[in-house]
Amino acid sequence: MATSSPEALPLDGESVTVRPARTADVRAIRELVAPLAERRVLLAKEAVAYYETVGDFVVAEAAGRVVGCGAVHVLWEDLGEIRTLAVDPAAAGRGIGSTILGHLLERAGALGVSRLFCLTFETGFFARHGFVPIDGQAVDPAVYAELLRSYDEGVAEFLDLERVKPNTLGNTRMLRHL
Ligand SMILES: CC(C)(COP(=O)(O)OP(=O)(O)OC[C@H]1O[C@@H](n2cnc3c(N)ncnc32)[C@H](O)[C@@H]1OP(=O)(O)O)[C@@H](O)C(=O)NCCC(=O)NCCS
Repeated sequence: MATSSPEALPLDGESVTVRPARTADVRAIRELVAPLAERRVLLAKEAVAYYETVGDFVVAEAAGRVVGCGAVHVLWEDLGEIRTLAVDPAAAGRGIGSTILGHLLERAGALGVSRLFCLTFETGFFARHGFVPIDGQAVDPAVYAELLRSYDEGVAEFLDLERVKPNTLGNTRMLRHL
């Protein structure tokens, strides 16, 4: 399913559409993320970080309202990360998260990456979508050294740096080959 040709699926008589995010969606994305960031389920980020990466995002929309979001962020030539996958709790368990993830997998393939990382508490959900837990690093030492140069806090979490350990406590590192 391509993000350019949105797919409709039933949601209590309405339909849900997944489409690339626009700057006007950032407010809704932040509202979805805020309670999750407060519980440290997702990484808390400044507003500017969402505008900077809005091109990474897709949103799920129902009746003109954003009910879910997700992003794929490229880390290296062969590697991307699923980030900020969130569904409004009122719309959870109806396949919206899976549909968003499907669009992100397709996007990741189109971008050219062959492996996708995610850091998550939702191990059952991601395992059902082909992700497997990993021990240690997903990149070789040379790429690790290059990634250390990034200012992105998500990359610091990916690298498992000591300074972000409080944020990642209890999360599982998972990887999927495309
Ligand atoms: C992970 C998350 C995005 C899933 O969203 P969701 O819309 O509830 O996902 P789905 O509905 O596709 O799947 C959830 C469950 O509903 C069930 N389900 C899926 N489609 C269904 C349908 N049409 N009818 C009934 N149940 C369904 C599935 O069995 C699935 O079970 P699982 O989670 O054990 O795999 C959501 O729980 C969330 O926002 N979590 C917090 C943020 C987070 O941790 N994100 C991941 C790290 S980036």
